[in-house]
Amino acid sequence: MKKIVILISGRGSNMQALLEAKLPCHIAAVISNRADAKGLETAQQHGIPTEVVAHAQHPNRESFDTALAQLIDTYQPDFVILAGFMRILTPAFVAHYQGRLINIHPSLLPSYGGLHTHARALQDGVKVHGCTVHFVTPDLDHGPIIVQAVVPVLQDDTEQSLSKRVLREEHRVFPQVVRWLCQDQVELTSEGHVRLRRRKQSGFALISPGLE
Ligand code: GRF
Repeated sequence: MKKIVILISGRGSNMQALLEAKLPCHIAAVISNRADAKGLETAQQHGIPTEVVAHAQHPNRESFDTALAQLIDTYQPDFVILAGFMRILTPAFVAHYQGRLINIHPSLLPSYGGLHTHARALQDGVKVHGCTVHFVTPDLDHGPIIVQAVVPVLQDDTEQSLSKRVLREEHRVFPQVVRWLCQDQVELTSEGHVRLRRRKQSGFALISPGLE
């Protein structure tokens, strides 16, 4: 059975979705860069070992990432899952986990990398928005895409209502991707493209706002 380690920084709702999905893998540990991350309590309630590597106690990114990787490697995970882990990782860290490091981002990448994705989408007046699960590469928020979920942006949306709609989809697609990974259903080709062994595809368009 494959082994995963989950990294979080805060609330941990995506982590919780992973813990509750009865995935065909062993969740070896949840690690946070903040001791006050609420998700740590949730992990403990699920009986998952938790660890903290406090970034604030390290002089620079290299030192933090080295300590983090040392800890992660004691668990020998097949995949390292970033579930709301709010730290930019060094190229050395990313290279160490090449093809094994997965992130969820609250936008339809490559649009709206970085922070405040929902506010920026609203500001631009886009009519669809969503989330992306992707392999992590040194190029921030630009790694090979595994899955995207698209939601409509509604006329009266606020940042809160839009983020809620996107988050609901995050909680659906993220466990699915981890399941695929653990079942060897996802392949990252040498050209850096994602191929899914099992595919259910629909040719329907999402048109937003809907046509009369
Ligand atoms: C999510 O929106 C995720 O896409 C982003 O950070 C947020 C984390 O939320 N990377 P949570 O901690 O999983 O609730």
